Amino acid sequence: MPKILTMTDFDFKDKTVLVRVDFNSPVEPQSKKILEDSRIKAHGETTIEELSQKGAKVVVLAHQGRPGEPDFIPLEQHAQILGKILKKSVRYVDDLFGERAKKAMEDLRSGEILVLENVRTYPKERKKGSPEEQANTDFVQSLAPQADVFVNDAFAAAHRSHVSIVGFTAVLPSVAGRIMERELNALGKALVSPEKPCVYVLGGAKADDALKISEYVLDNGIADSILAGGVAGHLFLAAKGLDLGRPNMEFLEKRGLMEFVSGIKKLMENYRAQVNTPQDLAVNVNGKRREIDVEELPTSYPICDIGTKTIHQFSEMIKKAKSIVISGPLGIFEDEEFRKGTQKILEAIGDSKAFSLVGGGHTVAAIEQLGLKSKMGYVSTAGGALIEFLMGEKLPGVVALEAAAERQ
Ligand code: 3PG
Repeated sequence: MPKILTMTDFDFKDKTVLVRVDFNSPVEPQSKKILEDSRIKAHGETTIEELSQKGAKVVVLAHQGRPGEPDFIPLEQHAQILGKILKKSVRYVDDLFGERAKKAMEDLRSGEILVLENVRTYPKERKKGSPEEQANTDFVQSLAPQADVFVNDAFAAAHRSHVSIVGFTAVLPSVAGRIMERELNALGKALVSPEKPCVYVLGGAKADDALKISEYVLDNGIADSILAGGVAGHLFLAAKGLDLGRPNMEFLEKRGLMEFVSGIKKLMENYRAQVNTPQDLAVNVNGKRREIDVEELPTSYPICDIGTKTIHQFSEMIKKAKSIVISGPLGIFEDEEFRKGTQKILEAIGDSKAFSLVGGGHTVAAIEQLGLKSKMGYVSTAGGALIEFLMGEKLPGVVALEAAAERQ
């Protein structure tokens, strides 16, 4: 884990604490109702509850959606949900750093919780910048003098160098919240010093991410094997020179994924034994599953899952692994006909004694639906931040906490 301070390093009693969480949740576009509250629950039951218990005056900063998107809504609902989860009153003010926000902060008593307005209502919030640049904004300049400490708990947004993520770290003592700490510890096990053999299962639709993650974890001796499924599996097969058939090649072309073929070819030349692509596939024949070997390609039907032989081969490799990372489903999990690949691979991971890390919204949804969450080593709350971490990128939110720790 990088050298950052945690909540254990600070006495919060009677202190005003600005805590940046990631409450960003799926929202029903018409009713604007929050559909799923796992992130609110995660931050609420850990960091926010602990700060309140320790007698802090807790001021919550968070974003929801992006301006112009249907899920860009105020944080009033989030505050209500948080109150229900914690079974205590949570205040909300529809102001971010104006007089009403500052007055609400002033009125807080020890142990009380206040949620401020969606930080993305501030037009400069999403402009990228260094902690020092972001500290010069009117947002930071207005709130920081009223606060004693900044807690960054938003690992899931730590890949953004936004004002509310890095700005306060330049001017306030700054520590990681419990979710941030937990994520960094778990991810360290998968990336910094994984027990060997270490297997990365990469699926989902973002095949370009799969390439970048594979390059990083193979070049750095982190992973011993890559198991490619989902769209990544298709693209890796195409990079082997296989014609997948019209609907499948068109899909890859439309998504602009063919430009990554040369990078994947190079990866497979360098790591022939480590990169595993599907040996059979399930195609959609009028809504029904039909399995074909890759030797039977091209197919005029859409490929929607890995086949039974591949499931068997991947499961055997998972059985032998000591650490496993999975990001992205191996097929169209939502469709019962094409659920098998993802389900069987997740079950194999659940049955293994190895440390496992599960990331990505769709994969997390799949394990929840299959009731496998308790059998997994660690389930990340993050999407994009996790992917960037697995690619070996430095996350600005974490770097800012490291810099703050050095100064303190
Ligand atoms: C997420 O949901 O992945 C984070 O909250 C980041 O959201 P963003 O991609 O809108 O910055």
